[in-house]
Amino acid sequence: MKIRKKIVAGNWKMNKSVSEASELVGHIKRGLHDCREVDVVLCPPFTGLAAVSEAVADTSMKVGAQNMHWEKDGAYTGEISAAMLRDLYCRYVILGHSERRTYFGETDQVVNRKLKAAIEANLIPIVCVGETLEQRDEDKTKDVVQSQIENSLVGLDKNLGGVLLAYEPIWAIGTGRTATPDQAQEVHDFIRKVLTGMADKDTADSIRIQYGGSVKPGNARELFGQPDIDGALVGGAALEARSFVEIVQAAAELVTGQPTGR
Ligand code: PGA
Repeated sequence: MKIRKKIVAGNWKMNKSVSEASELVGHIKRGLHDCREVDVVLCPPFTGLAAVSEAVADTSMKVGAQNMHWEKDGAYTGEISAAMLRDLYCRYVILGHSERRTYFGETDQVVNRKLKAAIEANLIPIVCVGETLEQRDEDKTKDVVQSQIENSLVGLDKNLGGVLLAYEPIWAIGTGRTATPDQAQEVHDFIRKVLTGMADKDTADSIRIQYGGSVKPGNARELFGQPDIDGALVGGAALEARSFVEIVQAAAELVTGQPTGR
């Protein structure tokens, strides 16, 4: 079995001014002491990217954006291209977050175009999938997730291995209602099976699948202990240094078997 390095990404959504972003990243740096056992990614809003990139330049932390446009340049008022993100030393980009899908009408087809543009620009995409509460109650979780993955990732071929996935059940986002580790593991295991149908087994085994939806210091350890949960995409708890640091430490402790830097 492949060892997949855990990855914890903070999705700050539409929060933090530039000075607040700088302050938060300063606290995170002090809290983490440049923890290298886990990949740590900070995703501020576009306006915070430059400051956060500069602040993490002397650490192993990386910066990600929350969205991008698929075109390289042109008359797309209000949009940001992959090259512009690279220019600000962005390494990752979140694509197809449920808030983008719900409030801004992003479809799997749009996500697919963005995904291809991101890979071409050498950004690592974090593609989000997940079902609504209604779909879960109707027992459609696997169908929904499978079709989101197959349609969002269509045509990637040999680039499939460069993608990260985030399973984020919509009913768990910002609600305080986390999927239980078993519920999340069941879907993560299913996602890996879907990936196995799209790529060779080695590639499917190497793709990291993050869980997202009310991840907190109190539930992170148990989630990270599941065989197919390779990290977290953290919203609310990433806005505060202490909770974010504790989530990263929970992942690091699984690697080292030791309590870290407290
Ligand atoms: P949450 O958000 O941790 O606040 O639930 C997760 C996300 O939307 O990525």
